[in-house]
Amino acid sequence: MEKTNLLYVGKAKKVYETADKGLLIVDYKDDATAFNGLKKGTILGKGAINNRVTNHLMKLLQRHGVPTHLVEQLSERETLVKRVQIVPLEVIVRNIAAGSLAKRLGIPEGVKMSRTVLEFCYKDDALGDPMVNDDHILAMRFATEEELKTIRAYSHKINDVLSAYLQDLNIELIDFKLEFGKLPDGTIVLADEISPDTCRFWDSTSGEKLDKDRFRRDLGNVEGAYREILKRLLGE
Ligand code: TMP
Repeated sequence: MEKTNLLYVGKAKKVYETADKGLLIVDYKDDATAFNGLKKGTILGKGAINNRVTNHLMKLLQRHGVPTHLVEQLSERETLVKRVQIVPLEVIVRNIAAGSLAKRLGIPEGVKMSRTVLEFCYKDDALGDPMVNDDHILAMRFATEEELKTIRAYSHKINDVLSAYLQDLNIELIDFKLEFGKLPDGTIVLADEISPDTCRFWDSTSGEKLDKDRFRRDLGNVEGAYREILKRLLGE
């Protein structure tokens, strides 16, 4: 499958159309941004790592019954995916307090919460992806009641599958962000990526951060953290 038109340029990926109307090619970049694009940089090798890590985790999820947009990896940085209509929500799944939740609620980072927390943000860069609740989502028709129910169920399932898988690799899944899309027949599938850009991964023993927080917070060894995740997940 060949790229035809460039459809969309995002902060970390480019998306191309193909000769097949129902299929797109995602091309992962090394560009990194944080704080809604205010901080910009490059993480060498990130595009190839995020492509491989995302596809590896999506395949794992598919085997556990979570449908995804993945079709097949085409090259180091490119993957063929099903074209979906993106549900305009970022779903944040949190097991341990960190990042914006820790700040907002005045809880130290690293505190395990008594249950998993789901948060929804309306996907709109100009507004800074504001948090919304179920009432907003239904009132603005970002998703229907049934779609929201499916998205919640898949988000918890994804958390269970990924947390258990990563625990065996000595990685604690602190929190992560998901995006879902709708196929032409209305089926909800997991879309976008699951990578060190969109998850907080802490080494279970040392607590060392192995994710994009190293870039956001200038902690150093950013590339090394991405490579370590690739090595633990894919053995290379
Ligand atoms: P937060 O604590 O900054 O709200 O981030 C929660 C999780 O969501 C964290 O794993 C990073 C991820 N995330 C994204 O993937 N994209 C974003 O734009 C933001 C703000 C967070």
